[in-house]
Amino acid sequence: MSQSLLQRLEGQVAIVTGGGGGIGGATSRRLAADGAFVAVFDINEAAANAVADSVRAAGGRASSWRVDVTDRNSVSAAVAAVESECGGIDILVNNAGLARQASFLELKDEDWNFILNLNLTGYFIVGQEVARAMVRKGAGRIVNVSSLAAHYAAGKQAVYAAAKGGVIALTQVMAFELAPLGISVNAISPGPVATEMSARNMSAHSRQARLDRIPQGRLGTPEDMANAIAFLASPDAAYVNGTTLIVDGGLLRAGIRE
Ligand SMILES: NC(=O)c1ccc[n+]([C@@H]2O[C@H](COP(=O)([O-])OP(=O)(O)OC[C@H]3O[C@@H](n4cnc5c(N)ncnc54)[C@H](O)[C@@H]3O)[C@@H](O)[C@H]2O)c1
Repeated sequence: MSQSLLQRLEGQVAIVTGGGGGIGGATSRRLAADGAFVAVFDINEAAANAVADSVRAAGGRASSWRVDVTDRNSVSAAVAAVESECGGIDILVNNAGLARQASFLELKDEDWNFILNLNLTGYFIVGQEVARAMVRKGAGRIVNVSSLAAHYAAGKQAVYAAAKGGVIALTQVMAFELAPLGISVNAISPGPVATEMSARNMSAHSRQARLDRIPQGRLGTPEDMANAIAFLASPDAAYVNGTTLIVDGGLLRAGIRE
């Protein structure tokens, strides 16, 4: 592992949900490289184990937990176990999420409910359980992973965009209510990132359509997202609160080239 020059998270305990996936895995490795102990939460136990193994193989510290972020009992048991084993929780990265694409006219109730439950209710449940632990400690930093889909209209993204827009609104209210208790809450909105999720959801056509519009000429990497999350999770972001950092290679603000 390339050791961070700063080790700015030395002595801190972090939970990363969806930590077995692309962005969550890169974030777990990056927070560990910055000195944090990382609890990798994922519904896919094997994926969580593999990421925790990769952290340890690189000299970092991590544990893995099978957690369903939509299940209050599953979340509260794992959060309580991390809190008691580690003496508190300093950082939460709310990241577990998936997209299901359907045109607005064909979107099914079942898909609407599933995606909202995972991408928004899951953030509420984990955010609330961990924030209560942070209140007991008197400090904490929460980073919610939203999406560029919340900022512009992309086809077949109605429920995903609604859920991720909800994450931004939730982030603002959490930041407002929790700031006096010593907890900061921010979000990032990744543009298209090359992970299993985007490989599943993006056709060759839609991948090229995005590449053509991204001023930096490439998709984001999980490490690009991990770098932004690590900043917001660190003391370097001490006075950043309630905001959403867009990490998209310039896509959202791209105009028309002459
Ligand atoms: N990949 C992109 O292009 C992109 C763009 C914008 C935002 N995002 C967001 O980034 C986050 C991570 O996405 P990714 O691309 O790394 O996806 P990914 O599919 O690689 O990882 C998602 C992880 O979440 C886990 N997960 C799913 N349901 C869960 C549950 N109920 N409880 C716990 N864990 C669960 C999965 O097992 C998986 O490991 C998501 O919130 C996604 O919406 C991704």
